[in-house]
Amino acid sequence: MVPLFGIFGAFHHAEITDPAQQIAHPAPVPLMQSGPIHIETDHLALTLFVDSKGHLLQRKFGDKASADGAGQTAYPAGGDGWYFEPALFVTHADGNTSTDLRVLGTSTRENVTEISLKDPEYPLFVNLFYRVSPKEDVIEAWTEIRHSEKGNITLERFASSSHDFGNGEFYLTQFHGDWANEMNMQEESLGFGTKILDSKIGVRADQFLNPSFLLSRGGPAKEDSGEVFAGSLAWSGSFQHLFERQPHGHLRVLSGMNPFNSRYFLKAGEIFTTPAMVWAWSKNGTGTLSRNLHRWVRTNALRDGDRVRAILLNNWEATYFSFDAKKITSLFQGAKDLGMELFLLDDGWFGKKYPRDGDNQGLGDWVPDPKKLPNGIGELTDNAKKAGIRFGIWLEPEMVNPRSELFEKHPDWAIQQPKRALELQRNQLALDLSNPKVEAYVYGVIDKTLRQNPGISYIKWDANRYLTQPGSPYLGKSRQTHLQIAYGRALYRIMARMKAEHPDCELMICSGGGGRVDYGSLQFGHEFWPSDMTDPARRIFIQYGYSFFFPPIATSNHVTHMGNHSMKFAFDVAMSGRLGMDIDVDKLSVQDREFAVSAIQTYKSIRETVQLGDQYRLESPYAGPRSAVMSVRGDEAVAFVYAIKDVPAAPLRLKGLDLAATYQVEEINLPAGAKSEPQTITGQTLLTTGLPIPHLSPFSSAIYRLRRTR
Ligand code: GLA
Repeated sequence: MVPLFGIFGAFHHAEITDPAQQIAHPAPVPLMQSGPIHIETDHLALTLFVDSKGHLLQRKFGDKASADGAGQTAYPAGGDGWYFEPALFVTHADGNTSTDLRVLGTSTRENVTEISLKDPEYPLFVNLFYRVSPKEDVIEAWTEIRHSEKGNITLERFASSSHDFGNGEFYLTQFHGDWANEMNMQEESLGFGTKILDSKIGVRADQFLNPSFLLSRGGPAKEDSGEVFAGSLAWSGSFQHLFERQPHGHLRVLSGMNPFNSRYFLKAGEIFTTPAMVWAWSKNGTGTLSRNLHRWVRTNALRDGDRVRAILLNNWEATYFSFDAKKITSLFQGAKDLGMELFLLDDGWFGKKYPRDGDNQGLGDWVPDPKKLPNGIGELTDNAKKAGIRFGIWLEPEMVNPRSELFEKHPDWAIQQPKRALELQRNQLALDLSNPKVEAYVYGVIDKTLRQNPGISYIKWDANRYLTQPGSPYLGKSRQTHLQIAYGRALYRIMARMKAEHPDCELMICSGGGGRVDYGSLQFGHEFWPSDMTDPARRIFIQYGYSFFFPPIATSNHVTHMGNHSMKFAFDVAMSGRLGMDIDVDKLSVQDREFAVSAIQTYKSIRETVQLGDQYRLESPYAGPRSAVMSVRGDEAVAFVYAIKDVPAAPLRLKGLDLAATYQVEEINLPAGAKSEPQTITGQTLLTTGLPIPHLSPFSSAIYRLRRTR
């Protein structure tokens, strides 16, 4: 820890717009003055400084080249002069509800800056952390709180990050939805007062809203110009983003775990660490912002982000719960014949006393169903190996059906409220991960499944309900409000153990579709399941929404029969991310099979460009009947064009190419018999006039491959 020294310039009261600074602080502390603390990426700066009383103020959060602002409290604590929403609100052990934070010192190790704050009257310590990813213009912010007061302190608010955005016009884009309808974009201007984006449901917390947003300055967010921030909380539990336009016009954004029903009694010596709030910034619009975030995710928030993903066949929409070993084995061969590389056995394979023939029973009993799989999983992994395909399996380890042997044995392991009738969702309850025995059991399910079946190299981890009766039989009467936070932390410990002890097993994060798509869980996974909505016409919108924060390599797109569209349309939509199929391949028509074989082969030829390249959004499905995205990697590029209504012929302006280069452009993934003549077009034409696209009928599409020729 390096103490802060040095004389900072005079403290001008006239400049101060910060309410906490307008009120004289009664408790003088030793003078702590310093030069500014610079937390910087290549283009983004968070500039902090310490005033003459030792308070931490923020001068700038935004363009590194912009002028410093007057300064507002960086991390406001409630009860001692701050009259807006505080980042921290503490009831001390003696009942005092005020906190005053003064800087003790700061230190920087590699790319992390830590600023230590302390209440001058109490042994309460708050450490603010900022990690920078310079090239990606990303700053992660999180907070640690600890104390040595005599007795517990109560944490009422505990933001991960708190930033002042100054005055101006701000537009907020949220990503809301529901089951099978994720990531709908809605943008609004932020007026005076408080706007909250949150989740209170603890588990599959993203069901109604993703914990990510866009915040644009000066007008609505644009793709290729304008200053825009992206914010995303790396947390899979309840979250809160609070946007407060103060009377003088300043906007403050507080982000963190939702304090709702989460009052936390912190023991002396215990460290309370908040999840990281991930901030990205660009002055060139959301396109640059997303490409930076995609790169940041691939290197910081996703496992094996530099390794291409396998093409997967899932049996869920093909068989639902009715299958047996013979059927699954035949799908291995079917998948292999189509060119796929991985088979995923979904829900329905387990349960002895209560066979999992529907979603009403068996959850929690992770033994193979003797009727469906008399020779266990081993027979399947052996057969998969013989067929030359990898094998994966579905687990929902955090949940239980009341009709299960697990619930019969441990009814007190389920989250529930005393004196209330059990409220089931999808006939199930969530297990109480705050109980260490339950945590150990849940890890044991995963560990045992993988140790007993070394042929499993992929797990789809599902979670199909959220909390509506958040009561823990374990936590006792004084710590009920710890449940949501304890649950999230236990979940991450389990996932971290799985990653450490089974590093070769890949993980898909799923939660009844996209109920758990966030940077928190993704650090333990290889990909996520975006939605149970697999109709390509709807998926275009859902995938577009995710693309603002999550890269194509992590976005699992499966071709299904949903919506009864052509195979080509379904493949063209799925091929812009990680391709899979969820279809009974044994029942494909000759024509569809032929198309699938060639589409999978085509995908293999563009897979690296799609999964490891930079993605450019070309046309938004929200803006018109035609939409388009493209991926660029080195000298190769691939553009996807989709129509959901009739679209007349019109050129498509491409992005990310070299203006001075020439490209060979060829339409690919054509139906059998159709041919495309490659054309040679200059980068200049493709970027300015555009690529000619013919008339497209509703629910049709086209893919173009571009290769630089000089
Ligand atoms: C959830 C998932 C689906 C499937 C089912 C199985 O709904 O999102 O993909 O795995 O559970 O019950």
